[in-house]
Amino acid sequence: MAHITASVYTSHVPAIGAALDMGKSGEPYWQPVFKGYEFSKQWLRENRPDVIFLVYNDHATAFSLEMIPTFAIGCAAEFQPADEGYGARPVPVVQGHPELAAHIAQSVIQDDFDLTIVNRMPVDHGLTVPLSLMCGQPAPDNYEWPCPVIPFAVNVVQYPVPSGRRCYNLGRAIRKAVASFDAPLKVQVWGTGGMSHQLQGPRAGLINREWDNAFLDRLIADPADLANLPHIDYVREAGSEGIELVMWLIARGAMGDESGPGTPRVAHRFYHVPASNTAVGHLILENT
Ligand code: DHB
Ligand code: FE
Repeated sequence: MAHITASVYTSHVPAIGAALDMGKSGEPYWQPVFKGYEFSKQWLRENRPDVIFLVYNDHATAFSLEMIPTFAIGCAAEFQPADEGYGARPVPVVQGHPELAAHIAQSVIQDDFDLTIVNRMPVDHGLTVPLSLMCGQPAPDNYEWPCPVIPFAVNVVQYPVPSGRRCYNLGRAIRKAVASFDAPLKVQVWGTGGMSHQLQGPRAGLINREWDNAFLDRLIADPADLANLPHIDYVREAGSEGIELVMWLIARGAMGDESGPGTPRVAHRFYHVPASNTAVGHLILENT
């Protein structure tokens, strides 16, 4: 049977992708950001999964105000890096895992979560920047990501967005779905976006270190309680784009808790300000 081995949480700042693509990662501004992921790249080489289930948000790239699914699961064989207005990032095409994606869709929809099935979905910085941070730049002679990726897009752009509670429970349904897939696959679930940031309006530039770190503490130790936090608290405390953090609860729900395989082990924790307009937060949790 398939099982979830670990979860990874990380911000997805687009300027991080640009810094990597333009060879600026060694510059003094970016150095401390990438230093926080050195452990993670080594960890991923040593703990390579068979599939990554990558929870992220689309930023009006594949979707637009014309159509906004709350939860969209990518079931295709591949996903192209998106052109977000300045050409597609020079990163590998994302290979999907149609069999596992279809199985998760079947299981989770039968568990009453109404997913949208998507078979064509260009993937934007929300998905490619976390892959770049964790995998580094793929070698020219082996130009691919280390394993297949199932993109799972969550609407955190247009209200109403799903609650933390719904995201957490969805994660638990994903855990159950993975555990019933009849192949011995090691699966990681990644939750991306955040941490505190606000890109527009009078509070543009807002960062809240204390709140971010308390969020990380609670995500590790008491996610079921954190899941009760209402949207307004995210927006007040972490800024309008801080709402991206509800996606981390999907990945956390897919991990162990008091009802499941137990509290996960913290393999790595990192926090840094600033990166563009955003506080960068990052966690790796392993199932014990
Ligand atoms: C920034 C952060 C984001 O999450 C995003 O989607 C776009 C921009 C930023 O910090 O600039
Ligand atoms: Fe974003």
